[in-house]
Amino acid sequence: MKRLGAALVLLAVVSGCGDGTGADTTVAAPEAPVAVRPMVFNEPDPDARRGLGSSGTAYCARVKCVALTFDDGPMEDTERLLGMLAQYNAKATFFVVGRMVEEFPDLVRKEVAGGHEIANHSWSHANLAGLSDAGVRAEIQKTQDAIVRHSGYRSVLLRPPYGSSNARVAAVARSFGLPEIIWAVDPLDWRDRSSSLVARRVLSGTGNGDVVLMHDIHRTTVDAVPRILEGLAAKGYRFVTVSKLFEGTPLTPGEQYRGRTATGAR
Ligand code: NI
Repeated sequence: MKRLGAALVLLAVVSGCGDGTGADTTVAAPEAPVAVRPMVFNEPDPDARRGLGSSGTAYCARVKCVALTFDDGPMEDTERLLGMLAQYNAKATFFVVGRMVEEFPDLVRKEVAGGHEIANHSWSHANLAGLSDAGVRAEIQKTQDAIVRHSGYRSVLLRPPYGSSNARVAAVARSFGLPEIIWAVDPLDWRDRSSSLVARRVLSGTGNGDVVLMHDIHRTTVDAVPRILEGLAAKGYRFVTVSKLFEGTPLTPGEQYRGRTATGAR
């Protein structure tokens, strides 16, 4: 675990990224004491956060893990979601849209302060497969820059909007050093604005090592989160960031991943 002293505003929080202890993922009562350690800003070795840095002690090789991911934000309901996650000491990954980062920079800082992972979901939620090389590069670069500028955090993961990619998008992602994180579980929360339906689909569809797709821009999805956390915790799952899910399992930039199996990535 590298510790850098570059934290300007957020002095000390619990981070879920790239640390083998797993202490951040235990479901705990809100008042439970948590270990405090310095936030990692501008991690100089993104490979370490993609899982290349550790082997043999990977947390999710030992316990049941799920990576909850929230796309398209941040938006107003993100703040409420952060409170829910904190209550369960759960870590998540936010695939943010660059122009939303510009609109709600405070929320991105709060995501980082909560120990969550921030990842790139393009600048304008464009269908990257329909863009030129230059267009794809601009969508990714502007978002990487906005995240760093507003939060000090350097994203190491890309999720192309709609999961839409092709060889050209993959090549650009590779040039940025970004693996493409798709998903294993899709509760269709953008279509069906029913909290009970979304919760039921996630609970019935999630297996060990899965990446789960949700959207924190929908109130109904955020409303479903306590039930999801309760239900999966009762089945023994720990809630980890995507980078932690793949700890010990190298992710190749430009390649696509949907989850972690007992033996590696898929
Ligand atoms: Ni999206």
